[in-house]
Amino acid sequence: MKPRILVSRPPSAAALADLRRRFDVEANEGGNALSAGELRDRARNKDGLLLSGADRIDGPLLDAAPRLKVVCNVAVGYNNLDLAACTARGVLATNTPGVLDETTADLTWALLLAAARRLPETERFLRAGQWQGWRSDAFLGVDVHQATLGIIGLGRIGQAVARRARGFAMKVLYHNRRRLPRSLEQKLGVTYATFPRLLREADFVSLHLPYSPEVHHLLGAKEIARMKPNAVLINAARGGLVDDAALIAALRSRRIAAAGLDVFENEPNFNPGFLELDNVALAPHIGSATSATRHAMFRLAVKNLTAALHGKRPPSLLNPAAWKNRRDSQKTKMVGVVGFEPTASTSRT
Ligand code: 8YV
Repeated sequence: MKPRILVSRPPSAAALADLRRRFDVEANEGGNALSAGELRDRARNKDGLLLSGADRIDGPLLDAAPRLKVVCNVAVGYNNLDLAACTARGVLATNTPGVLDETTADLTWALLLAAARRLPETERFLRAGQWQGWRSDAFLGVDVHQATLGIIGLGRIGQAVARRARGFAMKVLYHNRRRLPRSLEQKLGVTYATFPRLLREADFVSLHLPYSPEVHHLLGAKEIARMKPNAVLINAARGGLVDDAALIAALRSRRIAAAGLDVFENEPNFNPGFLELDNVALAPHIGSATSATRHAMFRLAVKNLTAALHGKRPPSLLNPAAWKNRRDSQKTKMVGVVGFEPTASTSRT
C-alpha cells in the first residue's frame, strides 16, 4: 500500500501526477482554503500532509489523525503549526526555508516603491479617467534613494532586502533579537540599532521576523507614534505583527505617510478600513508568488515528506525533539521512492 497523503493546495497538475506515482494522493483540487473541519476530516486517514501556511494544525486535528507521521508546510513561516502538539504526539513538522528569500525580498521592494510613490493611487486615478493634464503638485511622494531603511528581523529575507537597498544608496539600520557578527554587518552595509532608535530614525520600516505570540502587535499605536511623519511601513512578513486597527488610524490621520502590506490580521477577512485609505499599497499575501519559487517550495516540501515517510530525517525538520518518538513510518511500505537522496543532515539519527 502506498502512503496516503493530502495536498491542501496543489501547485499544478504535473506536480500532482508526479506525487501520484509514489503516494496515494488526495488533493484539494480547487485549491481554495479548506475549513478547519474539512482539513480535519481529510487528514483523518493520512500518513502525511502537504499544507499551506494558512492551514492550522493543532492537537484536536492530530488526535483525529492517528496514522499521521509528518505535516509539511509549503511555507517558511510555521505559526500555523502547533509544534508542541506535534512533538507530544511524535508527528514531524517541516517548512521550506531558503528557497523564497529573494522572491519575497523582491515583493517587499515592490510594496516599498509603490507606497512611496503612491502607485496604487495613481493607477486608480488613471483608470477612473480623472487625468486632466500634468500638475506640479500632483501625487508628490517620498524619496527612496538615500533615505534610511529600518529592517526589523535581519534573517535570510531581511538580508536579501538589505542587499537591494545598496542600489538605492540607502542607509540601513536593523534591529534583531541577536546582533549579527560585525563582519556580516560590514558585508551587508547595515548598522545595528535599538528598536526605539530604528523607529525614530527610519524613513522606511520593513518587518522580516516570524510571528509568535511574543511579538504580537510589535507595532501598535505607541510604536507607530514614534515613527517619523514621513515614514512608510512595510509588512511582507506576517499578520499580527502590526496592530492593523492602530495602523489604519495612523494612516488616516497622516501620522505616518504610507504603508505597503502583503499580510494582515485575520486573513483573508482583513480589516476593511484599509480599503478606505489612499495611502496604502495592498497585496493578498503574494510574497512568494512566482511560479519558479512556488515550485521550489513545493519540491522542498515533497522532499521533507518523502524523507519522513521513508524513515529518514527530513531536511527542514522544525521539531527535532519529535524525531526520537516519531510514529513508525517503516510500517508504511514506500513504492518507488525517487528524488530523495539522504544527505548528512537527513541521515542523522
Ligand atoms: C506562503 C509565506 O506562500 O512561506 C511563507 O511563510 O508566507 C508564503 O510564502 C504562504 O504562507 C502560503 O503557504
